[in-house]
Amino acid sequence: MPSLPVVSLTSAPAKDVDVLVVGLAQTAGTEVLVGLPDESATALAKAFGRPPADVVRDLGGSAKNADTVLLPGLAGQRLIVVGLGDIDVSPEQVRRAAGAALRAASALKAERPLTLALSLDAIEPQVIKGAVEGALLGSYRYRETTGKPGVASIQVVTTHARKPEARHALDLGVATATAVSRARTWVNTPANDLYPESFADEIVKAAKAAKLSVDVWDEKALEKEGFGGLLAVGGGSSRKPRLVRVGYAPRGAKFHLALVGKGITFDTGGLNLKPADGMYTMKSDMSGAASVIAAVTAIAEAGVKLKVTAFAALAENMPSGTAYRPSDVLTLYGGTSVENGNSDAEGRLVLADALVKATEDRPDLVIDVATLTGACVVALGERVAGLMARDDETADLVLDAAEAAGELFWQLPVPEEARGKLDSKVADLRSTADRWGGALTAAAFLSEFVPESISWAHLDIAGPAFNPHEPYHYVPSGGTGMSVRTLVALAHAIAG
Ligand code: BES
Ligand code: MN
Ligand code: ZN
Repeated sequence: MPSLPVVSLTSAPAKDVDVLVVGLAQTAGTEVLVGLPDESATALAKAFGRPPADVVRDLGGSAKNADTVLLPGLAGQRLIVVGLGDIDVSPEQVRRAAGAALRAASALKAERPLTLALSLDAIEPQVIKGAVEGALLGSYRYRETTGKPGVASIQVVTTHARKPEARHALDLGVATATAVSRARTWVNTPANDLYPESFADEIVKAAKAAKLSVDVWDEKALEKEGFGGLLAVGGGSSRKPRLVRVGYAPRGAKFHLALVGKGITFDTGGLNLKPADGMYTMKSDMSGAASVIAAVTAIAEAGVKLKVTAFAALAENMPSGTAYRPSDVLTLYGGTSVENGNSDAEGRLVLADALVKATEDRPDLVIDVATLTGACVVALGERVAGLMARDDETADLVLDAAEAAGELFWQLPVPEEARGKLDSKVADLRSTADRWGGALTAAAFLSEFVPESISWAHLDIAGPAFNPHEPYHYVPSGGTGMSVRTLVALAHAIAG
């Protein structure tokens, strides 16, 4: 895995850093530089022959959040001025600014890896954490394809560098960003390298490194126990399906969170073959599985006091002579029969198997994460994920965690009428309905596999899990790691 820069806290930037990042913020109708040390400001004013803020303005610098401009600094140093937005900064404003600044720095011409100081007046622990996460996430690269050496070390400048709260914020930021990066790399790995068996191997490695328990069901074990969803969906591929469980059970935990991730390592649509345009990005259809596994490793690393069990439901959805057909009736794990309405609605089938398995242990809350429906992308666009739950208390718990983590979720309903559309003449349930409200129908389907007595939330990350466009803020092209931060924040919130 490509390595992230090393991050530290400092009360003043080292004089010899290669790149100094400062902010430009909006306040009372004017723009002010934030974080530029007094002596640097004086020296720059002398060198430029006028106030640095004027030079920034002439070069097109703006206080708009995450706009960046490059200036020559002192003594061969380079200065990046990044827009913070309103001076009353939120953690997310700083996260975005830090991400944009690090992307700009990583693209600089250089002979060797760069050292960088990020000076944005971060004081509050949440803002420090935002700066750390933004900087690391903005530094992320899947492969060293740019030919640029990039940034090797980041000093986050804060007057609170020695405070325990600040150090804690640094550690949490590093653990979270590391988990997001791990999820991104799994998503970015092409499906000829990352398939159910190899992904399961990777998960086992990651779990063992984090001292977590791990169990893998191979195709024989899946058959023996009757995981009819995974077997049907994975049946068309020569790469056989897997179910992986990763467990974290610290002493004294009072709450059990179960996480279930959709892990379709490639979704061709099966016999309901996707058109070429829609298929190209489908190596990302395992993003939910990547998120839940990355999240449990970060939660364990931080020693959060709650029990977490994460399931990755892994299969490759391929058309072939052994593929499952539209109208096939499958018996899922636990015995529910399902009529397959469309072989491209594969995610809900593998999730149903895993949800039934996950709820056998009676967790207090189960959350599934999935790139489940194109309909959710139509409803909410490419940057906002859908959140569905059976009760608003659970929805609010997740929405609050998402807000704290700086991820965009919007609640969609699971209306009663949606379940009615899933009646089948030949099975307990049909997997698909008409084209209206597809995200809600999918949620209604999943809901059938979680007992009413267990709280449940469903995150449809089909839009934001993968960015097929240019990078922005701290979001790269390709896998984004969407939902990892929310899950980690949620675990912290629950454990208190
Ligand atoms: N993996 C797709 C959903 C998806 C679409 C994710 C676009 C990311 C971007 C999923 O398996 C799928 O194909 N869903 C179908 C369901 C339909 C057949 C009921 C869809 O959304 O069209
Ligand atoms: Mn599909
Ligand atoms: Zn899919």
